Amino acid sequence: VDICLDPYSFGQANTLSFNSLLHKLIKYVPRGSTVVDLYSGAGVIGLAIAASRKCSRSVRCVEINKMSKLSFEKSASRLPPNLGCTITWHNTDASAEPIHWLEGSSVAIVDPPRKGLHPSVINALQRVALSERKAFKAKSSLTKVKDEKRPWILRAREPAVHVDSTIMEESSGIWPETLIYISCGWDSFKKDCKSLISNEAWHLENAHAFNFFPGTDSIEVLAIFRRDSGIAQKKTKTKTKTKAKAKAKTKAKKKKAKPSKV
Ligand SMILES: C[S@@+](CC[C@H](N)C(=O)[O-])C[C@H]1O[C@@H](n2cnc3c(N)ncnc32)[C@H](O)[C@@H]1O
Repeated sequence: VDICLDPYSFGQANTLSFNSLLHKLIKYVPRGSTVVDLYSGAGVIGLAIAASRKCSRSVRCVEINKMSKLSFEKSASRLPPNLGCTITWHNTDASAEPIHWLEGSSVAIVDPPRKGLHPSVINALQRVALSERKAFKAKSSLTKVKDEKRPWILRAREPAVHVDSTIMEESSGIWPETLIYISCGWDSFKKDCKSLISNEAWHLENAHAFNFFPGTDSIEVLAIFRRDSGIAQKKTKTKTKTKAKAKAKTKAKKKKAKPSKV
């Protein structure tokens, strides 16, 4: 992608290493995905995924710095035509309403500042990952997002930039199965990673390190998490089986111990 970066917008300094990271990242995006790019800056990651033609519906970029809008617009205007998906850029705080941004996306990308993810984003990612197992409980709180009335929240949902005229289909019922975390803060990444993999919400499938800052002790991490539903279900099944076996054993023992009637 031919990227434009305004001086007021965030931009990676080591463009060569960032390019390698982007190539690697795109390999983890399943074909036909719907993507949300949180902490998107000028939308470089979202735009690169759109250009890879791996998205069948939409790429939504969410960024707090309004100065990144111009860069996004310019870069988006340089994309090849007919990418087959809608690309939008939203100027808002990703931590204010994270569930709204996660709903409708099969892939969530997060690239937060050095301090890592806001607790509300971690919480939303955990809830989303556990929603299948606790569907009944989670559904009511997850769907509340649709009943939002506050005008400033509703305004933030409207795209500041909308590329491509494809009409977005109803996307409810889709929640991230893949979480891609790009981190420049090793300590905060470790902390966030622990929270994400605790209570079996996500499992860390793979991680790659990139030397974005040669001569320093900093590394850039690209981590891929997948939803843990399969593993959790297996564990539950095994637990149930073990419980059932134990019950049967106790029953058999009791039967043996019973004195027979004469
Ligand atoms: C590490 S940069 C990543 C930018 C982009 N992904 C890239 O590679 O060019 C982090 C971005 O998060 C934005 N940001 C910080 N806090 C945010 C928040 N609460 N909501 C949305 N964006 C935020 C910053 O303005 C910055 O553009």
